[in-house]
Amino acid sequence: MIDFRSDTVTKATPEMLQAMTSAAVGDDVFEDDPTVNALEEKAAKLFGMEAALFCPSGTMTNQIAIKVHTQPGQEVICHELSHIYNYEGGGIAFNSGCSVRLLRGDQGRFTSEMVEEAINPDDPHFPISSLVSIENTCNKGGGVTWDLSEIASISATARDAGLKMHLDGARLFNALVATGHSPKDYGLNFDTISICLSKGLGCPIGSLLLGDKTMMKQARRVRKVFGGGMRQAGYVAAAGIFALEIHIERLAEDHSKAKMLADGLVDCSWIERVLEPETNIVVAELKEGKHQNDFLEVLSRKNILAVNFGKGKVRFVTHLDISSNQIDETLNVFRSI
Ligand SMILES: Cc1ncc(COP(=O)(O)O)c(C=O)c1O
Repeated sequence: MIDFRSDTVTKATPEMLQAMTSAAVGDDVFEDDPTVNALEEKAAKLFGMEAALFCPSGTMTNQIAIKVHTQPGQEVICHELSHIYNYEGGGIAFNSGCSVRLLRGDQGRFTSEMVEEAINPDDPHFPISSLVSIENTCNKGGGVTWDLSEIASISATARDAGLKMHLDGARLFNALVATGHSPKDYGLNFDTISICLSKGLGCPIGSLLLGDKTMMKQARRVRKVFGGGMRQAGYVAAAGIFALEIHIERLAEDHSKAKMLADGLVDCSWIERVLEPETNIVVAELKEGKHQNDFLEVLSRKNILAVNFGKGKVRFVTHLDISSNQIDETLNVFRSI
């Protein structure tokens, strides 16, 4: 099968497995796993932030951040397409007891003017606006990246009004490689950043939450409450260290493969329009009257997997385990169906 369902389907490479099996480990709940500590330090330093916390998933790092930044009854400002709102099981309400103010900008992005309008006045009728969350790249928006000056402007607006800034950077390294921005540019603009190791970076598991020491101390407590304290987690942290050293620059290959897929899809008889990919996500819209599940069924009979992305839409994601030959095979299939 040629698996374009997600960049989470990758298997650890032999070199990554080698790094994992030779890791020095300890009990991370006692904070004495040297490999976890090294990963946390490495990631924090990369972004110019004080500290980091290794967690099992990106859902957990996002949800811990929301919990740390809010009190029950307060409000989180985010995009209507955001993962924290759509795909984390209602966690904002369930874990933090907060309401959500949804913004409707272009492909998952919004502006500082929209944030300014969404911040509630200091009036007991309204929930207290306490957090702005940005997603970069935006998954549901087709993997688009943000303009750094817009982020800086949102950050200034939010912080002036006393709100905190969180970044869901599940695919932030894709954005950094595509735009040439540096991790430290992001560290400056956010109070917390979540990065995933298990997506484009090819690790089997793991995400990191970055922030200052006080917030990470609180985050460690919330991680325990959420059941995310891990013991000899150094085996998986070693994969993270390996990925931060070896798997970032190669994301450019995934991006060029995504462009090839998008170009090929334009010639496919099922497809009306393809969103221009900026990173490793390709979203295609089907011709009038065609159903996404029928298209996915036809593709799967040709050994190609993608996902249903809402009415009349499908999503393909390129990653470490997609070879150039598989792209060629896929393009042939697009032409033939
Ligand atoms: C933008 C974004 N944020 C967060 C997550 C959650 O990551 P996890 O699956 O590790 O919980 C995902 C997962 O695909 C994602 O796409």
